[in-house]
Amino acid sequence: MKKIGVFTSGGDAPGMNACIRAIVRAAVYHGIEVYGIHRGYKGMIKGEIYKMDSHTVSNIIQKGGTILRSARSKDFVTPEGRKQAYEQLQKHGIEGLVCIGGDGTFTGANIFYEEFGIPIVGAPGTIDNDLYGTDYTIGYDTAVNTALDAIDKIRDTADSHDRVFFIEVMGRDSGYIAIPCAIGGGAEIVMIPEAETSIENVVDALRTGWNRSKTSFIVIVAEGDEAGNASQVAAKVQEELPHMDARVTILGHVQRGGAPTAADRMLASQLGIACVEGLLKGEKCVMAGIINGELVYTPFIETITKDKLINPHYLNMVNILSV
Ligand code: F6P
Repeated sequence: MKKIGVFTSGGDAPGMNACIRAIVRAAVYHGIEVYGIHRGYKGMIKGEIYKMDSHTVSNIIQKGGTILRSARSKDFVTPEGRKQAYEQLQKHGIEGLVCIGGDGTFTGANIFYEEFGIPIVGAPGTIDNDLYGTDYTIGYDTAVNTALDAIDKIRDTADSHDRVFFIEVMGRDSGYIAIPCAIGGGAEIVMIPEAETSIENVVDALRTGWNRSKTSFIVIVAEGDEAGNASQVAAKVQEELPHMDARVTILGHVQRGGAPTAADRMLASQLGIACVEGLLKGEKCVMAGIINGELVYTPFIETITKDKLINPHYLNMVNILSV
């Protein structure tokens, strides 16, 4: 293999730049030409493909976002779109791909490999940490620390005003961001899609705390929770507890930006090298991940179809720590 392409796709995540840097430098180290594909699958279809070298990735390891830009492509979902993308790669003589993204990215990569046989190795880049085949995804640690920083600040004002705050964190259908935010942020309650928490439970827990003379509370609501979003949960709880002063904060896309933490820079660098070396060793349709400190390549199909379960003990910890 002499020429490879690299792209980021789906929601950006802090550490993607560190991973791009590692991929480019590992390619240069192994004597391979590397091309940056801008705006994910969308740019691949349009032919937004540019040669990269060691210098093009200087001074980016500490930056949030992705220098390659990202997008969610509707056209790549169609066979015609994928054919156009393949033709663009052929035009540039690209023989292998490294993608950085989440389940949408890997779903696309899996179909693309099946249709055209071009080897693709992926690095897990999403703040959601919802991919099977790695303990942590690139961007997750930074997103959790960004959210925690905000939660600490909200706690100050919650305490000053005797209020209950319903704080919504990202994670799509997963509670991986919510759990460390709740434990690390000293929340009274956490609501995640993986476990049912009824409004009655929330009301009971707040009432019990109130009767024990607690006057301020933090409730962390994962955006995908089945009981509703933070505003909906707050409205339902407020109906039952009208004497409590409730406020809602949606942390939103602030969780996606910012300089990556040391842990994310390390993970991104390790996995970036692993992607290039995986391609060179003949890996074809897999994601590189780290499980218990060991590098593991997991077929894309497993990363997107298998569940990465949350340890139920974490939920219990929130209960124990909020007594
Ligand atoms: O997958 C990352 C993520 O930030 C999710 O947590 C969130 O549900 C989604 O992307 C938001 O996507 P968008 O930026 O397209 O609104």
